[in-house]
Amino acid sequence: MKIIHISDIHLTIPGEPMGGLDPHARFARALADVTTNHPDGTRIVITGDLAHWGEYAAYEALQRAIADLPIPVRLIIGNHDDRPTFRSVFASQPVDANGFVNHAETVNGVRFLYLDSVGERTHAGHFCAARRTWLQSELESCDRARIFLHHNPMQLGLPAEDKIALVEEDRGPFRDLIEEYAAKIDYIHFGHVHAPIHGRYAGVQFASAPSTGNQSIPDLGETELLKGAPLHPAYFVLLIDGDDTIIHQIPFAWDGPVLTAGTEWEDWAKPVEAAE
Ligand SMILES: [Fe+2]
Repeated sequence: MKIIHISDIHLTIPGEPMGGLDPHARFARALADVTTNHPDGTRIVITGDLAHWGEYAAYEALQRAIADLPIPVRLIIGNHDDRPTFRSVFASQPVDANGFVNHAETVNGVRFLYLDSVGERTHAGHFCAARRTWLQSELESCDRARIFLHHNPMQLGLPAEDKIALVEEDRGPFRDLIEEYAAKIDYIHFGHVHAPIHGRYAGVQFASAPSTGNQSIPDLGETELLKGAPLHPAYFVLLIDGDDTIIHQIPFAWDGPVLTAGTEWEDWAKPVEAAE
Protein backbone atom coordinates (compact mmCIF):
# COMPACT_ATOMS: atom_id res chain seq x y z
CA MET A 1 0.00 0.00 0.00
CA LYS A 2 1.25 3.43 -0.94
CA ILE A 3 0.17 6.50 1.04
CA ILE A 4 1.05 10.07 0.04
CA HIS A 5 1.71 12.35 3.02
CA ILE A 6 1.58 16.07 2.19
CA SER A 7 1.71 18.78 4.84
CA ASP A 8 1.52 22.49 5.53
CA ILE A 9 0.33 23.73 2.16
CA HIS A 10 -0.72 27.11 3.69
CA LEU A 11 -3.09 28.15 0.91
CA THR A 12 -4.10 31.80 0.68
CA ILE A 13 -6.80 33.67 -1.19
CA PRO A 14 -5.61 32.85 -4.74
CA GLY A 15 -3.18 35.50 -5.92
CA GLU A 16 -1.90 36.35 -2.45
CA PRO A 17 1.65 35.17 -1.75
CA MET A 18 2.72 33.30 1.36
CA GLY A 19 6.29 33.52 2.57
CA GLY A 20 7.43 34.95 -0.76
CA LEU A 21 5.99 32.18 -2.89
CA ASP A 22 2.70 31.13 -4.45
CA PRO A 23 1.37 28.33 -2.24
CA HIS A 24 -1.23 27.33 -4.83
CA ALA A 25 1.42 26.81 -7.52
CA ARG A 26 3.50 24.77 -5.10
CA PHE A 27 0.58 22.62 -4.07
CA ALA A 28 -0.47 22.12 -7.69
CA ARG A 29 3.04 21.05 -8.58
CA ALA A 30 3.10 18.57 -5.71
CA LEU A 31 -0.23 17.11 -6.81
CA ALA A 32 0.93 16.90 -10.42
CA ASP A 33 4.01 15.01 -9.28
CA VAL A 34 1.84 12.64 -7.26
CA THR A 35 -0.57 11.93 -10.09
CA THR A 36 2.28 11.45 -12.58
CA ASN A 37 4.51 9.25 -10.45
CA HIS A 38 2.20 7.73 -7.86
CA PRO A 39 -1.22 7.23 -9.42
CA ASP A 40 -1.33 3.95 -7.51
CA GLY A 41 -1.51 5.79 -4.19
CA THR A 42 -4.23 4.54 -1.87
CA ARG A 43 -4.71 7.84 -0.07
CA ILE A 44 -3.34 11.37 -0.01
CA VAL A 45 -3.30 12.60 3.59
CA ILE A 46 -2.73 16.32 4.16
CA THR A 47 -1.80 16.96 7.78
CA GLY A 48 -2.95 20.48 8.30
CA ASP A 49 -2.21 24.07 7.84
CA LEU A 50 -4.44 23.81 4.80
CA ALA A 51 -5.17 27.55 4.70
CA HIS A 52 -2.68 30.04 6.11
CA TRP A 53 -5.27 32.57 7.29
CA GLY A 54 -8.17 30.12 7.51
CA GLU A 55 -10.04 31.97 4.76
CA TYR A 56 -13.12 30.76 2.91
CA ALA A 57 -11.65 31.40 -0.54
CA ALA A 58 -8.51 29.46 0.35
CA TYR A 59 -10.58 26.40 1.30
CA GLU A 60 -12.60 26.76 -1.88
CA ALA A 61 -9.33 26.74 -3.83
CA LEU A 62 -8.30 23.60 -1.98
CA GLN A 63 -11.62 22.01 -2.81
CA ARG A 64 -11.12 22.77 -6.50
CA ALA A 65 -7.52 21.54 -6.47
CA ILE A 66 -8.41 18.11 -5.10
CA ALA A 67 -11.79 17.66 -6.79
CA ASP A 68 -10.68 15.50 -9.70
CA LEU A 69 -7.73 13.64 -8.25
CA PRO A 70 -7.67 9.89 -8.90
CA ILE A 71 -6.64 9.26 -5.29
CA PRO A 72 -8.97 9.89 -2.31
CA VAL A 73 -7.77 12.79 -0.15
CA ARG A 74 -8.09 12.99 3.64
CA LEU A 75 -7.84 16.38 5.33
CA ILE A 76 -6.63 17.30 8.81
CA ILE A 77 -6.68 20.84 10.19
CA GLY A 78 -3.71 22.68 11.75
CA ASN A 79 -3.09 25.79 13.83
CA HIS A 80 -3.45 28.11 10.84
CA ASP A 81 -6.83 26.65 9.94
CA ASP A 82 -10.22 27.87 11.03
CA ARG A 83 -12.42 24.92 11.94
CA PRO A 84 -15.84 26.54 11.30
CA THR A 85 -14.74 27.99 7.95
CA PHE A 86 -13.13 24.72 6.92
CA ARG A 87 -16.31 22.83 7.81
CA SER A 88 -18.51 25.33 5.99
CA VAL A 89 -16.63 24.68 2.74
CA PHE A 90 -16.09 20.94 3.22
CA ALA A 91 -19.66 20.25 4.27
CA SER A 92 -19.37 16.47 3.92
CA GLN A 93 -16.18 16.30 5.99
CA PRO A 94 -16.73 13.73 8.76
CA VAL A 95 -16.34 15.01 12.32
CA ASP A 96 -16.80 13.45 15.75
CA ALA A 97 -19.77 13.88 18.07
CA ASN A 98 -18.21 17.04 19.54
CA GLY A 99 -17.56 18.72 16.20
CA PHE A 100 -13.83 18.09 16.18
CA VAL A 101 -12.44 17.09 12.79
CA ASN A 102 -11.61 13.64 14.12
CA HIS A 103 -12.35 10.90 11.65
CA ALA A 104 -11.20 7.38 10.92
CA GLU A 105 -11.37 4.67 8.32
CA THR A 106 -10.04 1.17 7.87
CA VAL A 107 -7.60 0.88 4.96
CA ASN A 108 -6.33 -2.60 4.13
CA GLY A 109 -7.06 -3.76 7.66
CA VAL A 110 -5.38 -0.81 9.38
CA ARG A 111 -7.40 1.84 11.19
CA PHE A 112 -6.27 5.24 9.90
CA LEU A 113 -6.94 7.78 12.66
CA TYR A 114 -7.08 11.42 11.57
CA LEU A 115 -6.82 13.56 14.69
CA ASP A 116 -7.83 17.19 15.21
CA SER A 117 -5.22 18.77 17.53
CA VAL A 118 -6.29 22.39 17.04
CA GLY A 119 -6.97 24.78 19.94
CA GLU A 120 -8.79 28.10 19.79
CA ARG A 121 -6.59 31.08 18.86
CA THR A 122 -3.33 29.30 19.62
CA HIS A 123 -0.57 27.83 17.53
CA ALA A 124 0.09 25.13 20.14
CA GLY A 125 -1.59 21.75 19.90
CA HIS A 126 -4.43 20.52 22.08
CA PHE A 127 -5.69 17.10 23.08
CA CYS A 128 -8.60 17.64 25.44
CA ALA A 129 -10.51 14.98 27.37
CA ALA A 130 -13.15 14.68 24.63
CA ARG A 131 -10.51 13.98 21.99
CA ARG A 132 -8.76 11.59 24.35
CA THR A 133 -12.00 9.64 24.68
CA TRP A 134 -12.40 9.50 20.90
CA LEU A 135 -8.83 8.32 20.29
CA GLN A 136 -8.93 5.76 23.10
CA SER A 137 -12.18 4.33 21.82
CA GLU A 138 -10.74 3.98 18.32
CA LEU A 139 -7.52 2.41 19.56
CA GLU A 140 -9.39 0.03 21.83
CA SER A 141 -11.64 -1.26 19.09
CA CYS A 142 -9.14 -1.76 16.25
CA ASP A 143 -6.52 -4.40 15.53
CA ARG A 144 -3.89 -2.08 14.03
CA ALA A 145 -3.71 1.70 13.81
CA ARG A 146 -1.81 4.50 12.14
CA ILE A 147 -2.22 8.01 13.54
CA PHE A 148 -2.12 11.23 11.52
CA LEU A 149 -2.31 14.68 13.14
CA HIS A 150 -0.97 18.19 12.62
CA HIS A 151 1.02 19.02 15.76
CA ASN A 152 4.11 17.27 17.03
CA PRO A 153 2.73 15.57 20.16
CA MET A 154 6.22 15.43 21.68
CA GLN A 155 9.01 17.93 22.21
CA LEU A 156 11.62 17.63 19.47
CA GLY A 157 14.68 19.23 21.06
CA LEU A 158 13.90 22.50 19.27
CA PRO A 159 13.11 24.96 22.09
CA ALA A 160 11.53 27.64 19.88
CA GLU A 161 9.42 25.13 17.94
CA ASP A 162 8.54 23.13 21.04
CA LYS A 163 6.63 26.13 22.39
CA ILE A 164 3.92 25.28 19.87
CA ALA A 165 4.02 21.49 20.23
CA LEU A 166 1.11 19.82 21.99
CA VAL A 167 0.71 21.88 25.19
CA GLU A 168 2.46 20.46 28.24
CA GLU A 169 -0.73 19.48 30.10
CA ASP A 170 -1.88 17.41 27.11
CA ARG A 171 1.47 15.79 26.26
CA GLY A 172 1.33 13.41 29.24
CA PRO A 173 -2.14 12.05 28.52
CA PHE A 174 -1.30 11.66 24.83
CA ARG A 175 1.91 9.81 25.62
CA ASP A 176 0.13 7.57 28.14
CA LEU A 177 -2.38 6.57 25.47
CA ILE A 178 0.32 5.85 22.90
CA GLU A 179 2.27 3.77 25.40
CA GLU A 180 -0.81 1.81 26.35
CA TYR A 181 -1.61 0.90 22.74
CA ALA A 182 1.93 0.97 21.29
CA ALA A 183 1.78 -2.69 20.30
CA LYS A 184 -0.97 -1.98 17.78
CA ILE A 185 0.13 1.48 16.52
CA ASP A 186 2.27 1.18 13.38
CA TYR A 187 3.29 4.82 13.07
CA ILE A 188 2.51 8.43 14.02
CA HIS A 189 2.64 10.95 11.15
CA PHE A 190 2.43 14.72 11.58
CA GLY A 191 3.43 18.06 10.05
CA HIS A 192 3.59 21.47 11.74
CA VAL A 193 7.40 21.71 11.98
CA HIS A 194 7.99 22.11 8.22
CA ALA A 195 10.88 19.68 8.40
CA PRO A 196 11.47 15.95 8.08
CA ILE A 197 12.07 14.65 11.60
CA HIS A 198 12.03 10.95 12.41
CA GLY A 199 12.24 9.09 15.66
CA ARG A 200 10.68 6.79 18.18
CA TYR A 201 8.40 7.96 20.98
CA ALA A 202 6.49 6.02 23.63
CA GLY A 203 7.33 2.83 21.78
CA VAL A 204 6.10 3.99 18.36
CA GLN A 205 7.94 5.28 15.29
CA PHE A 206 7.08 8.77 14.09
CA ALA A 207 7.83 11.01 11.12
CA SER A 208 7.01 14.62 10.29
CA ALA A 209 6.66 15.65 6.65
CA PRO A 210 8.18 18.84 5.18
CA SER A 211 5.99 21.68 3.93
CA THR A 212 5.19 22.27 0.27
CA GLY A 213 6.18 25.91 0.99
CA ASN A 214 9.02 27.20 3.14
CA GLN A 215 10.96 24.86 5.41
CA SER A 216 12.16 25.35 8.96
CA ILE A 217 15.83 25.12 9.81
CA PRO A 218 16.44 22.96 12.88
CA ASP A 219 18.15 25.10 15.53
CA LEU A 220 18.62 23.11 18.70
CA GLY A 221 19.83 26.18 20.61
CA GLU A 222 17.33 28.83 19.58
CA THR A 223 14.75 29.48 22.27
CA GLU A 224 12.64 32.26 20.73
CA LEU A 225 12.68 32.61 16.95
CA LEU A 226 11.41 30.07 14.47
CA LYS A 227 13.87 30.01 11.59
CA GLY A 228 12.75 29.26 8.07
CA ALA A 229 14.18 29.29 4.57
CA PRO A 230 13.13 28.56 1.00
CA LEU A 231 14.80 25.16 1.06
CA HIS A 232 13.49 22.62 -1.42
CA PRO A 233 10.03 21.40 -0.50
CA ALA A 234 8.97 17.79 -0.45
CA TYR A 235 6.21 15.36 0.30
CA PHE A 236 6.45 11.81 1.63
CA VAL A 237 5.58 8.53 -0.01
CA LEU A 238 4.87 5.84 2.57
CA LEU A 239 5.29 2.26 1.37
CA ILE A 240 3.40 0.06 3.79
CA ASP A 241 3.54 -3.72 3.85
CA GLY A 242 1.87 -5.20 6.91
CA ASP A 243 3.42 -3.32 9.80
CA ASP A 244 6.58 -2.50 7.82
CA THR A 245 6.88 1.13 6.68
CA ILE A 246 9.36 2.74 4.30
CA ILE A 247 9.31 6.52 3.86
CA HIS A 248 10.59 8.32 0.77
CA GLN A 249 11.02 12.10 0.71
CA ILE A 250 10.14 13.39 -2.77
CA PRO A 251 11.72 16.75 -3.79
CA PHE A 252 8.94 17.47 -6.28
CA ALA A 253 10.05 21.04 -7.12
CA TRP A 254 13.72 20.26 -7.82
CA ASP A 255 14.77 22.06 -11.03
CA GLY A 256 18.50 21.39 -10.81
CA PRO A 257 20.54 18.72 -12.56
CA VAL A 258 19.60 15.10 -12.23
CA LEU A 259 22.59 12.78 -12.56
CA THR A 260 22.37 9.17 -13.57
CA ALA A 261 24.96 6.48 -12.94
CA GLY A 262 26.94 5.63 -16.07
CA THR A 263 28.19 2.17 -15.21
CA GLU A 264 26.71 -1.17 -14.37
CA TRP A 265 26.75 -1.97 -10.65
CA GLU A 266 29.17 -4.84 -11.24
CA ASP A 267 31.59 -2.76 -13.29
CA TRP A 268 34.46 -2.01 -10.89
CA ALA A 269 36.78 -0.42 -13.49
CA LYS A 270 37.73 3.14 -12.56
CA PRO A 271 36.30 5.53 -15.22
CA VAL A 272 38.94 7.18 -17.41
CA GLU A 273 37.46 10.57 -16.53
CA ALA A 274 38.33 10.11 -12.86
CA ALA A 275 41.98 9.40 -13.64
CA GLU A 276 42.50 12.56 -15.72
FE1 LIG B 1 2.59 25.13 8.96
